[in-house]
Amino acid sequence: MSGLKLIVGNWKMNGSLAHKDLAQEIIAGVKELGAENVEAAICPPFTILGLIGAVCQGTKVEFGAQDCHFENSGAHTGDISSVMIKELEAKYVILGHSERRANHNETSELVAKKAKAAIANGLKPIICVGETEAQRLSGSAIEVVLKQVEESLPQDCKDSEIVIAYEPVWAIGTGRVASVDDIDEMHNAIRAKLSTIFSSSQIIPLLYGGSVNAGNSAEILKISNVDGALVGGASLKAPDFLQIIKSAKNIVG
Ligand code: PGA
Repeated sequence: MSGLKLIVGNWKMNGSLAHKDLAQEIIAGVKELGAENVEAAICPPFTILGLIGAVCQGTKVEFGAQDCHFENSGAHTGDISSVMIKELEAKYVILGHSERRANHNETSELVAKKAKAAIANGLKPIICVGETEAQRLSGSAIEVVLKQVEESLPQDCKDSEIVIAYEPVWAIGTGRVASVDDIDEMHNAIRAKLSTIFSSSQIIPLLYGGSVNAGNSAEILKISNVDGALVGGASLKAPDFLQIIKSAKNIVG
């Protein structure tokens, strides 16, 4: 762990031109908090990525996209490449979110291809992994997640080039959060796995995601090997998102 906490807002398929106000509120709040030990980022949908990105320029709030294609350009109707995202000066791209794995049949192999392209074009992929409820109940959560980690990482990537987000599928958007013990166990297992792949795995931020909110963030962010959070629903409300950032600030500050 670097000591820096990373709090990323995943707006999913939410956001209109009016959400410029939300971004501005978040930016103003982050400035006021002056949390030098926290990095905040927001990931709006593609239609407003340029707009929100322009609002974030020169501020303490980074921004990113929610997906990208593995090719740089070409005949891929409806897709967006990492080159296009980088042109807007985004820093991050979320890849392999469970909603994409489930709704678009994305495999870990595909996620690795996308991550490779993203890194090559100067973006930092936030690679998402997580077990379903059935997998947790059957006792295979750790095995499933470590396999996803291994297969979703592009070959030869460096530890400084990636972020990993552990998001139990059953905790996303449900209000059900994994227990502190389960998060602790999973993050330790992921860190141990990464140390078999990278020489300095400690610098890879490991985020937890799944119903993180203003009320539970302090407890979650305190867990060792939790370097931040990937926040869905609560990132659409500025006071809630800012409270999560404040929790992170208080832990490391
Ligand atoms: P949630 O979503 O915070 O609404 O559960 C998290 C995510 O899907 O990244």
